[in-house]
Amino acid sequence: MSKKDKPGRHQRMLAAYGFGLFSLPRYREIRGEGWQIRHHLPSMSEGYLTPSFVEGNRFVLYQGRRPWMSTGLFEVESHAFHVHAAHGLVVVAGLGMGMYAFAACAKPQVERVVVVERDAAVIAMFSAAAGLETWPDRHKLIIVQADALDAALAERLTEPCQGRAADYFYADIWPLTPDATAPPQAGAMVRALAPKAAGWWGQELNFGQWCLERRRPIDGAALADYAALCGVPIPADAGYAAFCRDVAAVNHALIAPRPPRRRPWWRRFFGAGSENLNSGAAAPPDGPAP
Ligand SMILES: C[S@@+](CC[C@H](N)C(=O)[O-])C[C@H]1O[C@@H](n2cnc3c(N)ncnc32)[C@H](O)[C@@H]1O
Repeated sequence: MSKKDKPGRHQRMLAAYGFGLFSLPRYREIRGEGWQIRHHLPSMSEGYLTPSFVEGNRFVLYQGRRPWMSTGLFEVESHAFHVHAAHGLVVVAGLGMGMYAFAACAKPQVERVVVVERDAAVIAMFSAAAGLETWPDRHKLIIVQADALDAALAERLTEPCQGRAADYFYADIWPLTPDATAPPQAGAMVRALAPKAAGWWGQELNFGQWCLERRRPIDGAALADYAALCGVPIPADAGYAAFCRDVAAVNHALIAPRPPRRRPWWRRFFGAGSENLNSGAAAPPDGPAP
């Protein structure tokens, strides 16, 4: 599912937010050590910005039986802003299927893309699965095998980045969103690398959740506060704030604060006194951290 598959959706996003979808490499199925990329047939699906729809053919990256990502619309819509933000020297944490790397390399505004990937098997599978030898802009891509959360990350990247700070840093090292560890981990990587601008996968959902917990409107002012709190220089504008608002509306059920669970009525009558019975009665809402 890409810009070419969905020209109408691409144009609507461009008009509403100032950025749209992007093209993907041509994938093929492959098995690596502990990982594989499998083809999936069309099925009902949910987008990031688009509610339920019929998803066409897609490829899914698995580690064992655990899905990490796919080439479906959810992934393309959730990467779209970060592809738009890519320019100059781009540093990326998490190779996955190389979907972002391909789209960033394809942009004329991007000079070099340095991807940090922890897993050697992912790197080994990627070039064959994504047809790297056919990428017109493959000369821009450098892959470094390293843990993006390692304290020595900046040192590992000095040579591939030619001693320069990244113009855009994009972190995508999580299989699910919203993930409460993503904002602090993205903040830690930003502190290590000091990029000029940065973002992480799923940041719109973390941000939307933060706003809903505080009953704040999802707008540019809240986004500036949230980016400062996380220590991530998100290159936001009015179009991006509108995108965050719309993504939060589509995913409201995922990010709305959960109401405290009521104690079942029958506990009052049948020995409700024990601490254990009460322990789940008023689950606190998710923590206040970014
Ligand atoms: C969801 S995929 C990335 C998808 C990618 N954005 C794309 O467009 O194809 C996440 C990747 O992050 C890698 N990863 C997870 N933790 C990591 C870490 N600490 N450092 C580097 N890579 C990591 C995983 O092995 C996986 O390849």
